[in-house]
Amino acid sequence: MEDFSLWVEKYRPKTFDEIKGQEKIVERVKAMVKKKNLNNLLLAGPAGCGKTTLILVAARELYGDAWRNNILETNASMERGINVIRQDIKNFARTRAVGDFPFKICILDEADALTKEAQQALRRTMETYSQTCRFCLIANFSSKIIEPIQSRCIVFRFKPLDKKAITELAKYIAKNENLKIDNAALDALYRISDGDARKVGNVLQSCAAISNKITEDLIYEVVSAAKPEEINEVLKLALKGNFVLARKKMLDTMLNHGLSGIDVIKQIQKEVWNLKISDEKKVLLIEKCGEAEFRMVEGSDEFIQLEALLASFVKIGLT
Ligand SMILES: Nc1ncnc2c1ncn2[C@@H]1O[C@H](COP(=O)(O)OP(=O)(O)OP(=O)(O)O)[C@@H](O)[C@H]1O
Ligand SMILES: [Mg+2]
Repeated sequence: MEDFSLWVEKYRPKTFDEIKGQEKIVERVKAMVKKKNLNNLLLAGPAGCGKTTLILVAARELYGDAWRNNILETNASMERGINVIRQDIKNFARTRAVGDFPFKICILDEADALTKEAQQALRRTMETYSQTCRFCLIANFSSKIIEPIQSRCIVFRFKPLDKKAITELAKYIAKNENLKIDNAALDALYRISDGDARKVGNVLQSCAAISNKITEDLIYEVVSAAKPEEINEVLKLALKGNFVLARKKMLDTMLNHGLSGIDVIKQIQKEVWNLKISDEKKVLLIEKCGEAEFRMVEGSDEFIQLEALLASFVKIGLT
């Protein structure tokens, strides 16, 4: 039978042991759960590294089958306003936890999208329901959460998953889905993932729709990215002063992979760090990438911006 589920959901860890990486954080939350207690938490970090997963695992372990009844998941970024969110929390916290538990868990995703005023209101709500409710705030940037809230929480800082974790995850999914994946493809997967496990699941699922043999080429095709070597080649040509050839290679690469100007800039920016030039030059080039990207986002012609960027590579190569 055909399987229509999303792999990122299918492979969302259901126990602490299934969570890859983030060992220290998992350890500490596990210890809290074991004592059948949980502090207010602030989980901060980049996309797809296990923040939501961790709190859901904690809820499963704490409440068993009744876990769904004992958590409220609300997203602060939706334009619902703080008052609606507070009303939701009030309705939720008013009734006792199902099973023999002194508290429920209220999960506030994308808490860093709340304004300072909304956060002040939230802080009062947290105080009001401190007896019956534990709060778990999730944010990309902890610095956007006001101090009085932070001081009421244990702050855990998640990191992008490292190569080992990403590779383990990819191998696990591949094995379960009967995919063949070689080492070059695993490397590529890590490089395009930026440590985001969600990307790994999504890219593998897209690849598998085309072939069960996952190769480096297939991965770059699916994410519509150029192989790092192709971009590296373009940059090296430009640094050597060969502007015309560099421009041609860049255009070929863009057309072959169907890349937008922004896609190319992002890849160039990553590749700058792999060039064999001084750190000062790297910094200059990164600055140029930033300018070109900004102009592009503002609506300037993509190809003109890319050409201008290559011209700066030529210039800096000459110095
Ligand atoms: N540490 C991890 N170990 C294994 N799989 C993971 C891990 N982190 C994320 N995943 C995978 O990525 C998916 C998304 O993870 P999750 O929802 O926890 O991300 P998040 O950190 O909350 O990101 P966001 O900030 O985008 O909400 C999960 O369903 C799971 O498939
Ligand atoms: Mg999340």
